[in-house]
Amino acid sequence: MPIYLIGMMGSGKTTIGKILSNVLNKKFIDLDVEIEKRERKKIKMIFSQNGEKYFRDIETKILKKTESEDAIISTGGGIILKKENREILKKHKTFFLYVPIEELIKRVNIENRPLLKDGKNILFKIWYERKELYNKFDKVDLTNLNEFESAAKILYKICEEKSEKIENDFQNAIIKITGLKELKSKENIFVSKTVNRIYGKIFTNPYVLNDGESIKNYDNVKKIYTYLIKNKISRKDTIYGVGGGTVTDLIGFVGSTFKRGLNIKFYPTTLLAQVDASIGGKNAVNFENIKNAIGTFKIPEEVIIDPLTVISQKEENYFEGIVEAFKIAIIDGNISLFLNNIDKIKRRELKTIIEILKYAVKVKLDIVSQDPYDNNIRKILNLGHTYGHAFESYTGISHGLSVGWGLLKEVELSEKLGNKSKDFNLIKDFIYNILPSEIINIHLDKNQIFKYIIQDKKIEKIEKIEIPIIKSIGNVDLEVTMLERLS
Ligand SMILES: NC(=O)c1ccc[n+]([C@@H]2O[C@H](COP(=O)([O-])OP(=O)(O)OC[C@H]3O[C@@H](n4cnc5c(N)ncnc54)[C@H](O)[C@@H]3O)[C@@H](O)[C@H]2O)c1
Repeated sequence: MPIYLIGMMGSGKTTIGKILSNVLNKKFIDLDVEIEKRERKKIKMIFSQNGEKYFRDIETKILKKTESEDAIISTGGGIILKKENREILKKHKTFFLYVPIEELIKRVNIENRPLLKDGKNILFKIWYERKELYNKFDKVDLTNLNEFESAAKILYKICEEKSEKIENDFQNAIIKITGLKELKSKENIFVSKTVNRIYGKIFTNPYVLNDGESIKNYDNVKKIYTYLIKNKISRKDTIYGVGGGTVTDLIGFVGSTFKRGLNIKFYPTTLLAQVDASIGGKNAVNFENIKNAIGTFKIPEEVIIDPLTVISQKEENYFEGIVEAFKIAIIDGNISLFLNNIDKIKRRELKTIIEILKYAVKVKLDIVSQDPYDNNIRKILNLGHTYGHAFESYTGISHGLSVGWGLLKEVELSEKLGNKSKDFNLIKDFIYNILPSEIINIHLDKNQIFKYIIQDKKIEKIEKIEIPIIKSIGNVDLEVTMLERLS
C-alpha cells in the first residue's frame, strides 16, 4: 500500500520519507525525482521550458503509477492543486506534514525551487492559497520537531496498536506499539520535557520534569512528594513514569517510598530504559555527587514498552541502548541478532528493534529473577561498566557509549588474563561498527582509569576488584582480580 506525504516545500517530506522507509523497510519514492528522471532535466528547467501545466500533467501521470506501490512516497508541494490528484491521494493513506510558515522560511533553500524565484516571502502567499486544500488531509503537526521526532509522530498514525507480553514470572512487561496512547486521560503522569514536547498531545495535565541526569536528585523527590500530597494521592493510586532511565529511576524511587509504596507503571521511552533501567526493579536518585546513592528495589506493576518512541531518540541515545542490549546478548550467548542485522540496526528498522527488545528484556528478566537483590549473578550485568564508568567520569561522554568503550577494554582485559576466543573479534567488530571512531580512539592511561575505578562501588578492597570477565560469548563470569592487572 502506498503512503503519501504531502505538505509545503521545506516541510521535510523527502527527509522524513526516507526515515520512514528505513524504519518500515519499505521502498521510498520521491515523485519530483521520478519526474526529473523521466524528463531528464531539473524541475526548474521543466517549469521554465515547458511551463507549469506540462509539469502538473506529468506529475499526475506518475502519481497514478505509484498507486500500486508498497512504498513511502514524498510529493511536490503543489500536488494538491489538481482535483484529480487530490482524489487519488484521498484513496490512500496520505499525511499532511504541517510546519508553520515562519519555520519553513528559515529552512528552505531556493535552489531548484521555481516558485521561489522572487524570494522566500512568496511562501506566505502560497500557503494562504493552498492551506484549505492541505487541511482536507490527515494533518500531522510537526512544529518544533526534528526529522526523527517527526517520523515517530507520523508512525503513530501509520502503525496499528499491537501488544505482546514478555513471558516471565518476575515482572509484568509488555511490548506495545503505540503504547503511550493508553495514557490518554490518565492522571499523575510524570514525563520528561523532550518526551512531552514530542508526544505531549497524548497527556492531560502531566507533571513535566527536566531532561537528563540532573532530575535524579533529592530536591525533585521532595517536590514530587509535595505534589502527591497536594493531589491527595493514596496507596491505591497509580503514578506513571514516562521517559528515559532518569525518569523511571526517579519515579520508581518516589513511588516506592511515598506512603510506603504506590502503584507504579513505567512507559520507558529510550531503548536503554526499555531494555535496562525499567527492568528489574532497581531505582535510585543521586546524592552528594554519588550516583544512585539512595535507592530501593521495587518491581513496578507494569512496564509498557512502546518501540515507536525509539525512533524519535537522538542517534547517540539510540546507540547507547543498542550497546546495553548487545552487552546482555554477550552474557546470554546469542549475538547473531546483532551481527546479522547491523544495517537494519543502524537505520532503526522497527522489526529489528522489536526483536532486540523481546530478546534483551527476556534475558535481563531471567538474570534478575535469579538474584533480585543484586548479590551474585545479577552483577554480571555490570559487564563493560567498570571501565565504562571510569571513561564516563573522565570524559563526560554519555553512559551507554562509555559502556561500549568499556566493553572493548574488558575484552582486552580478558585476553590479558589468558582467555582466548575467536568470539572476541566479533564483539570488537560490532562495537567498532556502531561506536563513533572518535570515542574508540580515546586512550586513557592506567592512572586515569584507576582514579575513577577506585571510586567504583564494586571494589571490594582497594587492591582487588570484582569484575565480569568474558571467557567467550555466553560465558561471562564474575572474578576477583588484582587491580594492578587493569590498565
Ligand atoms: N535502574 C536501573 O536498573 C538502571 C539501569 C541502567 C540505567 N539506569 C539509569 O538510567 C539513566 C539513563 O537513562 P537514559 O539513557 O534513558 O537517559 P535519559 O533519561 O536522560 O534520556 C536521555 C534523553 O533522551 C530524551 N528522551 C527520552 N525519550 C525520548 C524519546 N522517545 N525521543 C526523544 N528523546 C527522548 C530524554 O528527555 C533525555 O533528554 C541513568 O540515570 C542511569 O543511572 C538505571
